[in-house]
Amino acid sequence: MNKEKILEAISKEIRACRKCGLWKTRRNAVPGEGNPNAKIMFIGEAPGRNEDIQGRPFVGAAGQLLTKMIVEILGLQRRDVYITNVVKCRPPGNRDPTEDEIRICSPYLIRQIETIEPDIIVCLGRHSARFILSHIGIRFKSILSIRQRIFQIPFSRKKIKVVATIHPAAALYKPPWRGFLEADFKLIRKLLEEETSKKKPTTLDFFLQK
Ligand code: URA
Ligand code: SF4
Repeated sequence: MNKEKILEAISKEIRACRKCGLWKTRRNAVPGEGNPNAKIMFIGEAPGRNEDIQGRPFVGAAGQLLTKMIVEILGLQRRDVYITNVVKCRPPGNRDPTEDEIRICSPYLIRQIETIEPDIIVCLGRHSARFILSHIGIRFKSILSIRQRIFQIPFSRKKIKVVATIHPAAALYKPPWRGFLEADFKLIRKLLEEETSKKKPTTLDFFLQK
């Protein structure tokens, strides 16, 4: 099976999933979307109201800011990257997902990562960073203490670079944080450029064509 088919199968499972209680209050599960061969994967926390209505990740105000950063700072389009969340159904009232919900839902995310095998994972916000960095035993109190750092995490066959930044929603309600988000996206652009220049010309061509 190719990556696209595997991801579609995972999405189908998620849309029908009733493994944790969140299925009872969701309108739509939000599996994630994007390029199955993405070099970069963005991982948020959980769907919000707009995402629950549309069944697509990051389509509300935070999503608009994320999309703007992807286009203006990384020089990519949304369709070039893969965007998803740790938890795939909306917690009622946008409360934080519980530890149980994260434990039960996250195997879907791990399967998505192992299928896409991106070069870079970007954790959006502390819940996403906490889950991903727990795989290498990193704990932290504030997301501000781990931003602007590059971690490497082995996921099945590949070592993936991981960067954590603030959640775009936080940049919307705390204006000074907007600068942090921009600075972190500049670091991500640098990492992407390094990964791209390491690749064989065929891969580079593929990357530049898009
Ligand atoms: N916030 C998230 O963490 N994920 C979304 O998909 C939308 C908003
Ligand atoms: Fe299933 Fe995850 Fe939705 Fe819970 S949040 S019902 S585990 S897809």
